[in-house]
Amino acid sequence: MTNPTPLIAGNWKMNGLAASLSEARAVAAALTPGGPRVAICPPATLISRAAEALAGTGLEVGGEDCRAEASGAFTGDVSAEMLADAGARLVILGHSERRAGYGESDALVASKVLAALRAGLEPIICVGETLEERRAGKALEVVAAQVAGSLPSDLAGKAFAVAYEPVWAIGTGLTPSTDEIVEVHRAIRAGLVSRFGDHGRVPPILYGGSVKPTNADEILHADEVGGALVGGASLKAEDFLGIIRALA
Ligand code: PGA
Repeated sequence: MTNPTPLIAGNWKMNGLAASLSEARAVAAALTPGGPRVAICPPATLISRAAEALAGTGLEVGGEDCRAEASGAFTGDVSAEMLADAGARLVILGHSERRAGYGESDALVASKVLAALRAGLEPIICVGETLEERRAGKALEVVAAQVAGSLPSDLAGKAFAVAYEPVWAIGTGLTPSTDEIVEVHRAIRAGLVSRFGDHGRVPPILYGGSVKPTNADEILHADEVGGALVGGASLKAEDFLGIIRALA
């Protein structure tokens, strides 16, 4: 069974205008063979332009969310098929900003994962505990429940990634200790293996939450850390490349 292929994905969130594509181009130009897989997930408005600008480079493009339905009367929403049509190859699903801001449940996230698979997109499924949950000693329990509820059985044999993003580490400059990250990642891996058998060893488990060039080396070389989901530090090529180089 192969080891997980590391993936570094940038989550631009609601940031980026056409001019920001120069940062993505600079990242693409600096990628070297033998490094990790790298993707950027810009806002939906930029996906097709990013895909065109990055065609033929090693930098892949993903979406930040999708709706479960393929089409219909859902004003303002974007389907997995639309993301794929625009040139996306991956999609982030179940990010804590969606879970908290839009009340997305594990069941809804699982339905979006099915949509991603239907459209041929590789889902990056996010899980992570709040500070209250960690302080109450419930981090592992919460994450295990999110993994169980957000990953449909249809993922068996499919390409996907799980991102462990403690809510309290996102955009705060705080990170768990390396031991805490490893503890959660090992628990997620055990959950994937018990669910999907040997195939459960294949998906990379990304860490996300205040990853920066200064902490990337330690985090990315920790046991069962198969890459990173990077928010703020993915917006500037220099910062993002500083993280990518930790695995290059
Ligand atoms: P951050 O965000 O790197 O800015 O903390 C990570 C994320 O939300 O995916």
